[in-house]
Amino acid sequence: MIKVENLRVHFGEAGQRIVAVDDVSLSVKAGECYGLVGESGSGKSTILRAIAGLVDHWSGLIEIDGRPVGRKRDRDFYRLVQMVFQDPFGSLHPKHTIDRILSEPLAIHGLDDAENRVRHALEQVQLGPSFRFRYPHQLSGGQRQRIAIARALILSPRLMLLDEPTSALDVSIQAEILNLLADIRREFGVTYLLVSHDLGVIAHMCDRFAVMRQGKLVEVAANTDLNSGRLKEPYSRQLLLASKGYDRAVVDAFADI
Ligand SMILES: Nc1ncnc2c1ncn2[C@@H]1O[C@H](COP(=O)(O)OP(=O)(O)OP(=O)(O)O)[C@@H](O)[C@H]1O
Ligand SMILES: [Mg+2]
Repeated sequence: MIKVENLRVHFGEAGQRIVAVDDVSLSVKAGECYGLVGESGSGKSTILRAIAGLVDHWSGLIEIDGRPVGRKRDRDFYRLVQMVFQDPFGSLHPKHTIDRILSEPLAIHGLDDAENRVRHALEQVQLGPSFRFRYPHQLSGGQRQRIAIARALILSPRLMLLDEPTSALDVSIQAEILNLLADIRREFGVTYLLVSHDLGVIAHMCDRFAVMRQGKLVEVAANTDLNSGRLKEPYSRQLLLASKGYDRAVVDAFADI
């Protein structure tokens, strides 16, 4: 579903150039959930944004469903690929009703029967029809993220790029949203590229994952490697330790890699 080869993304002009993604290659099978983990600033969101066509300066190859993407993504691309962002408040227009937020992609893509599709999308994220005429500020964080997921789903994409879809939510709501995403994948066979800084989330959701550090891909591992502690790279192992929560002995044992 995704093939990325030698992807490089930079920001800023010569002299102050930041290489956010440095020669990253990865491939994601159809129907798979593939995780991206790594410390803050390691380039995870930038990879998703490059795939989604939201960054200007990139080089390398990006193929979606066997076809290389060009500089500009066309409308058909967004039927295939949708993105859900970390902050469900920032990503929903504050002055638009949920109905308008969900109808807009339908209008853009010339899909009819908006009324039924909106109802159905709300059902898919387990929100009743009464939510249709509310505004984003009248929803909880978890409900807003459900709307963001419904907006992505309403176009029946085959690939969803999920950038920390639950990190702005409290732990119990996080679990609800993750389970919802897992159900959606099971039911519709959607492929996920899921960014999380939390290896626990990756272990729960993903078949395979890549560990990122300073723009580079450090290691690709399978979910089973995580459970049995078979990670190869010291940095990945450290990330795994860190995901077990705050522990004095662990912190003392931290090596400066
Ligand atoms: N629009 C931009 N302009 C300039 N620099 C940027 C831009 N977007 C990202 N960067 C830089 O690129 C690097 C990678 O950022 P990115 O957002 O991909 O990290 P991340 O792994 O998603 O981090 P986090 O876990 O904190 O979300 C960082 O150094 C960041 O400051
Ligand atoms: Mg990010």
